[in-house]
Amino acid sequence: MWLVTPAIKADLNKIVEIERECFSSPWSYQAFLQELKHNYSYLWVAKDVRFEIVGFICFWLIYEEAHILNIAVKKAFRGKGIGSLLIKKMISFVKKRGAKWIRLEVRVTNKGAISFYEKLGFERVIVRPRYYFDTGEDALVMELEL
Ligand SMILES: CC(C)(COP(=O)(O)OP(=O)(O)OC[C@H]1O[C@@H](n2cnc3c(N)ncnc32)[C@H](O)[C@@H]1OP(=O)(O)O)[C@@H](O)C(=O)NCCC(=O)NCCS
Repeated sequence: MWLVTPAIKADLNKIVEIERECFSSPWSYQAFLQELKHNYSYLWVAKDVRFEIVGFICFWLIYEEAHILNIAVKKAFRGKGIGSLLIKKMISFVKKRGAKWIRLEVRVTNKGAISFYEKLGFERVIVRPRYYFDTGEDALVMELEL
């Protein structure tokens, strides 16, 4: 029902549109473009049956650590398993390449995302005070051991 593929440059406008819908301090087009250039960075999109992009994930894989930098699903498509699919595909991909754990930071106020990650087995590790420069909010570091 949902197809996950690596993003290409032509996907970036749609990704930025979803990013703006989902975050108060969205990444720019240029920021996503940079991610396409690094060999340790992966940007994948989830598409529906009409090949419309409905979500994306961006993560890094550096030696034993994978790090989720960004994940978002279009509002109208949430609660349908797309976020979980993106993470599960990522887990299988990084595991095969030797990753031992996955880490991420999430705003402590983003309760929905925290529940989402916990449902996928991520655990709370530590709070980094005033991690986000836009609001001064704390970040919760979460980790999944593989
Ligand atoms: C977090 C996000 C990616 C989840 O995507 P999604 O496709 O809706 O997630 P799924 O449908 O796979 O949800 C899987 C499970 O996570 C949990 N979950 C997801 N969103 C939740 C929410 N807002 N509140 C509580 N639990 C939630 C539920 O247990 C859900 O299982 P269920 O459908 O059986 O109830 C999506 O809500 C989103 O784009 N949020 C805005 C961007 C964001 O905050 N990204 C994270 C930044 S760190």
